Amino acid sequence: MESTKSKPRDSTGSDLSEQIKAATKDSHVRAENTQLMLNYQKGQITQTQYKLLLCSLYEIYRALEEELDRNADHPAVQPVYFPQELARLESLELDLEHFFGPHWRKRVTVPAATHRYTQRLREIGKNSPNLLVAHAYTRYLGDLSGGQVLGKITQKSLGLSGIKGIAFFSFPGVTSPNKFKQLYRGRMNSIELTEQQRQEVLDEATRAFEFNIEVFDDLQKMLSITEEASSEKRNDTASQSQSRTFSNSPILQFALGVGITLATVGMGVYAF
Ligand code: HEM
Repeated sequence: MESTKSKPRDSTGSDLSEQIKAATKDSHVRAENTQLMLNYQKGQITQTQYKLLLCSLYEIYRALEEELDRNADHPAVQPVYFPQELARLESLELDLEHFFGPHWRKRVTVPAATHRYTQRLREIGKNSPNLLVAHAYTRYLGDLSGGQVLGKITQKSLGLSGIKGIAFFSFPGVTSPNKFKQLYRGRMNSIELTEQQRQEVLDEATRAFEFNIEVFDDLQKMLSITEEASSEKRNDTASQSQSRTFSNSPILQFALGVGITLATVGMGVYAF
């Protein structure tokens, strides 16, 4: 399936892949500079942080890949439909099972920003499949770029061996990420779009980055408050026995953080 295909250029003489990269350049810098990503790049990723991130990625890819599957024959989806090479849902399921055990589905909790992101994916999958390419580009090309570095950082920071817990970052169907990205760009450029549709795709790509930034910011807030709550608990000698109960139960500990988060930043949390 990894074969290149030539493609027509649009009337402006610029390829969609070039335009989308240019249109999202500033958003990419902002995404890289979210607190969560900055901490990540410094190798400051804990298992709690990573598990929480996996939960959101799971919901995002579930929506994205279900909508891509449903629209696989759509002319604006078919050229960039690479389930064998790119699909992340099964790897995320493996990673979640690794960290949360067999009943991981009951443990998936995401912030409101993740919920808004998945709602948008469902909406465009239903009403504007032309725009799916913007989201597929943002996530998959990101995973094949900076994502590869993040995978190595995760493995090192969490002391993981093999691909256990980090299947998400591994693309066994892609022999060379760079060559595959070239192929993908070529396929994006082969999608026939009117000028208006093309502009809508570019706008949607900026939105896709924005959704990711909001997810990272929400996760960071949840994490900060959860950490604050556990440190307050540690200091609270008067209620030591109750504190022990919380720290022994990751769900309760997390729920405590979330409860405070809800009250503090007005952020919804969704358990699936
Ligand atoms: C720690 C954070 C990040 C780092 C260090 C990083 C790094 C990079 C690098 C070095 C490239 C260029 C690869 C190349 O030219 O072949 C790239 C491309 C890309 N990144 Fe990121 N990235 C980060 C976060 C993100 C996030 C959060 C997203 C979106 C959710 C994202 C989406 C993309 C996309 C779509 C491309 C492909 C650009 C193109 O060639 O059109 N990145 N990233």
